[in-house]
Amino acid sequence: MEFPTDSNLIVGMDSMDDAGVYKITDDIAIIQTVDFFTPIVDDPYWFGQIAAANALSDVYAMGGVPKTAMNIVCFPIDQMDISILRGIIQGGIDKMKEADVVLAGGHSVEDKELKYGLSVTGFIHPDRILTKRNLKFGDRLILTKPLGTGIINTAIKGGLASGEAIKFVTHFMAALNRDAAQVMEGFPVNACTDITGFGLIGHVAEMVVDSDFGIDLWSEKIPIIPEAVNYAAMGLVPAGAYKNREFRECMVNIFPSVKQTVLDILYDPQTSGGLLICVDSKSADDLLIRLKNKGMNAAIIGEVLSEPKGRIAVR
Ligand code: CO
Ligand code: CO
Ligand code: CO
Repeated sequence: MEFPTDSNLIVGMDSMDDAGVYKITDDIAIIQTVDFFTPIVDDPYWFGQIAAANALSDVYAMGGVPKTAMNIVCFPIDQMDISILRGIIQGGIDKMKEADVVLAGGHSVEDKELKYGLSVTGFIHPDRILTKRNLKFGDRLILTKPLGTGIINTAIKGGLASGEAIKFVTHFMAALNRDAAQVMEGFPVNACTDITGFGLIGHVAEMVVDSDFGIDLWSEKIPIIPEAVNYAAMGLVPAGAYKNREFRECMVNIFPSVKQTVLDILYDPQTSGGLLICVDSKSADDLLIRLKNKGMNAAIIGEVLSEPKGRIAVR
């Protein structure tokens, strides 16, 4: 398919990136992204916050600052109380306020299934756009939120999740990636993305596929929500994790010491996951300290190697 484009569309449909980028002047480009989905937690207000944090994240992942947003609402008005929708919208509004984003408008339709999200526009300097590519040999990978939200959401749906696990996962999904984006601004970051539906390995795969590099992941260093390990062992793994594995396992070498439950978590689709920051190795420890000082459960989880090209090793 041939997509409409012009020379100012710096990041467009042909890239696997988190959002589109269109250059306005030599100093300003706009970042545009849209995300919406069905509820993943029962509480309308928290769902609104999570959906908004998730939609804003793609702007942060590219190093930009979100500025305006529009509500996208699909609502079964005949079957659901309007107070549910109010709760969701309020959650979204409060998250936008926290992010200094203004609500410019929106659109709602009647639908059998409830869905909510945002289209977001942000600003960035055209020379400072972070994408999934541009890895450098020796770079370290830093993950800023723990993994396991898909598995815990599966446990929630099955009525098997503990109160503690629900609290944990809700808190992480609703947290903005803004602090991480602000902290990384001062560091020699070469690439960045956020971890969402394709899981950690899926998003790492997008970084290395057809590139001159390979990525080593250190499974013992990867932050994981503790309960997710138990739930994975109980088989509470979402269908999306199996799809992610089917799609990408041809690119992955797994060391025999890596446990199956950990692998399930590396393929687990995340909602509003953390940033995956690819930074010059000399600055990795400093960046990690700064992220931790902001309260993030971040860790250095791997490195960029020259071989084997286009592949991921999990050790
Ligand atoms: Co993304
Ligand atoms: Co997205
Ligand atoms: Co309209």
